[in-house]
Amino acid sequence: MRFHHEIAIDPARCIGCGRCVDDCPAANLVVADGKAAPLTQGCIMCAHCVAVCPTNAVTISGFDEEPRPLDGAEALEPARLLAALGARRSMRRFADRPVADEALADIVEAGRLTPTGGNAQDVSFIVLCERLERCEELAVRLFRRVLPFARLVDATARRTEIDDRFFFKGAPAVVVVVAKDQVNGALAASNMELAAQAHGLGVLYSGFFAMAARLSPALRRELGLARGQKAVTALVVGHSAVNYRRTAPKEPADVRFL
Ligand SMILES: Cc1cc2nc3c(=O)[nH]c(=O)nc-3n(C[C@H](O)[C@H](O)[C@H](O)COP(=O)(O)O)c2cc1C
Repeated sequence: MRFHHEIAIDPARCIGCGRCVDDCPAANLVVADGKAAPLTQGCIMCAHCVAVCPTNAVTISGFDEEPRPLDGAEALEPARLLAALGARRSMRRFADRPVADEALADIVEAGRLTPTGGNAQDVSFIVLCERLERCEELAVRLFRRVLPFARLVDATARRTEIDDRFFFKGAPAVVVVVAKDQVNGALAASNMELAAQAHGLGVLYSGFFAMAARLSPALRRELGLARGQKAVTALVVGHSAVNYRRTAPKEPADVRFL
């Protein structure tokens, strides 16, 4: 985590119920003399102790948001969720319309709220604004150099031309998801796509742009990527210029119950 955090338990509020002890994944809390207390400040700061406390006695410093009471309105409806997942499409044709700042903020927020292994909270986001065209230009330059070699071995590459809009398809917004851990970045990206969908926006995960950002030092410099930081994916975001009328079939789940 980038910031310093410390757990505090208000003895005036704590009723010694032990719920925080039972729910702590790091065995970092005890109840002594009827009051809970942290053993160390060296845990993963997952804040389950904050979330589970019935008297709001636990706080953790260093966050700039207050915990929000939960009232059940957060529940997802399974059929609607699956219907929405089935309706989403990778978007490759975008209308000439900007993406509202509020929508972009919600997309980043969805990434921020996504869990990370060990609660590392190590995923970051680069919203391409002024440098969008320059970044695409650098990626295009790289792919044009590589294309002749790809054409030797790949039939799709032989049919593909790398035009100036090859990566971002003229979309108005791109959010690059950066992480050291590929899984953390991918989970964030998936939730971000859902947030975009909730705003009526379409998304393309640009694996090609992420590839370019891994291979091109010039593009890495332009994105300000430090050593070890990986552009896991780029979410190309905009209003769809295509009206999809039905779901696209997918193969059955490859699932085993053991
Ligand atoms: C990690 C990932 C990377 C992708 N990269 C690209 C890409 O660079 N260019 C592209 O046209 N589509 C890309 N796609 C889109 C896939 O081709 C698409 O998800 C798949 O064909 C299924 O179509 P659907 O998303 O519309 O269901 C990517 C998808 C994922 C999940």
